[in-house]
Amino acid sequence: MIDAQLIALRFLKTRLQVHPDVVRYIQEQDNPDLIEDIIAQIPPDTVVVTSKNIPGLTATRDGTRFLADPTVEVISGNAGTSGSVNGTADYLHYFRERYQRLGSMIRNRCGAMPIEGLIRSSRYRQEECTIIGMVADVKSTSNGHRIAELEDPTGTIAVLFRKDRPVFSDAERLIHDEVVGVKGKLSHDGKLFFADQMLRPDIRIDNTPFLSDRPGRAVFISDLHVGSNTFLEQHWSRFADWLHDEPAGYLLIAGDLVDGIGVYPGQEHELLIKNIYEQYDRFGELLCDLPSRLQIIVSPGNHDVVRGAEPQPVIPEQFAKTFPKNCTLVENPAVVNLQGIRVLMYHGRSIDDMIGLIPGASYERSGQMMEEMLQRRHLAPAYGRKTPIAAGRQDRMIIDPIPEILHTGHVHVRGITTYRGVLGINAGTWQSQTAFQKQMNVNPTPALAVTVDLQTLRPEIVSFN
Ligand SMILES: [Fe+2]
Repeated sequence: MIDAQLIALRFLKTRLQVHPDVVRYIQEQDNPDLIEDIIAQIPPDTVVVTSKNIPGLTATRDGTRFLADPTVEVISGNAGTSGSVNGTADYLHYFRERYQRLGSMIRNRCGAMPIEGLIRSSRYRQEECTIIGMVADVKSTSNGHRIAELEDPTGTIAVLFRKDRPVFSDAERLIHDEVVGVKGKLSHDGKLFFADQMLRPDIRIDNTPFLSDRPGRAVFISDLHVGSNTFLEQHWSRFADWLHDEPAGYLLIAGDLVDGIGVYPGQEHELLIKNIYEQYDRFGELLCDLPSRLQIIVSPGNHDVVRGAEPQPVIPEQFAKTFPKNCTLVENPAVVNLQGIRVLMYHGRSIDDMIGLIPGASYERSGQMMEEMLQRRHLAPAYGRKTPIAAGRQDRMIIDPIPEILHTGHVHVRGITTYRGVLGINAGTWQSQTAFQKQMNVNPTPALAVTVDLQTLRPEIVSFN
C-alpha cells in the first residue's frame, strides 16, 4: 500500500494540497502511476486536489429517474412493512444479511479473503491481503493500540490497529456490529492480523446527486413534542403563517410528533396534554391549519405511540383521525421520492449510541453523526444498546439506495452537512429546553425549519424565534 504521507508529499512538491478522500482513493487503487496521471491533468490554478481531478472518475448517477405521479412516492417504509420478529432464526438471518449487503459494498473495491481460509493456510502469512468482517468486539490495549475482533461467516480473528499508524484514527471510530474491510498482514503464528488500512462501505467519492428538472421546494422539520408544556405553540403559528406564503410543495416531519406518555420518569409533570389520543388530535389540528397544497410526510420517533424497536411502524389509524388528507404516514426509517429526489427519513435514536462510542461525537454536532451513518452505510450499527432494533428478514437500517437527502431529528440541535454529495439535515425541534436536557447540558436550537430547493439541493435555515 502506498504511504499516505508519501502521497501528500508528492502533491506538495507540485505546490498542491490534496483532499484526504483522494489520498484514500489512491491507497485503495494501489496504483502509484495514478498520482502522476492526476498531476499531469490538473488545471493550472488548482490549489487543492479533489475527487473531481481524478481522471476516469465520472458521475455515478445517470441522471434519469422513474418519476411517480403523484409526485410523492414511498420507496421503502410504507405502512405494514416493518414486520415482526419470529425468534432467534430471524436474528441470525438479519446479521447475515447485514454482513452480506454491507460486505458486498466493500468487496466491490477490493478482493477479500474468508477469515478461516486466511488462518488455515500458511501461504498468506506476512503477505498483504484484505478481510471483511463485522465488529464483534473492540477495545484499547494497555499500550494504547486498538484491537478488534472481526467476524465473517467462516470465522473470527483479532485485528490490531497500532497507535503509530495512520489507520489508527479510523480504528478509534470503530463501532460494534459495523461491517468493515481491513487490509494488512497476518502474523507468523496466524493469530493476529496487523491492519494497514480500513475500508468502510461508504459513499463513492464520485457520487453525484440527482437534481429535479422542475421547480420544487421541500421543508424539513422534526421533534414537535406536542402535548409537552415546552412545545413552542406561538413559534409554530408563526411557522404556519410563513408556510402560507412559502412556495413549498412538501413538508417532512422526522418523528417525535407528540411528547407521548411515560417516556421518562416524572414526564407527567411536564405535560400540558396528559392523554395520548388528545396529543395526536392536537398535532392533527396543527397540520390541518397548514396550506392544503402541501404534501406532508410524517414518520414516528421514540416519543411516539408505536413500538420503540426500529423500523418503527406508521402511526396507527386510531391516533391519526384528525390528520389531514394531504398527509402520508411512513415508517421510521423510510425513503420517499420527491420529484426524483430521494429523502431518507430517520428519527436518529442511534445518535445516542454513537455519542457514547465515537470519540469527539456530541449532541452539538449532529452533522458529523449523519456523516458517520453514511460512511457505515447504516443508520444504527451498534446492536443491543440504547437503540432497540427489531431484527427482520431484511436489514432496513442499511442505507441503500444512496439518498440525495438524509433527514434526521432526535438531538434537538440543528445540524447541516454535505458528505460526498449527500445533504444531511437535522432541523432541531419545536420544544424549548426541558429539565432533562438542562441536566444533560444539551442546548437545543428550537423553532427552525430547513428548506431545500429541489433543483439545486441548496439548504436554507429559516428561524421563527
Ligand atoms: Fe425529540
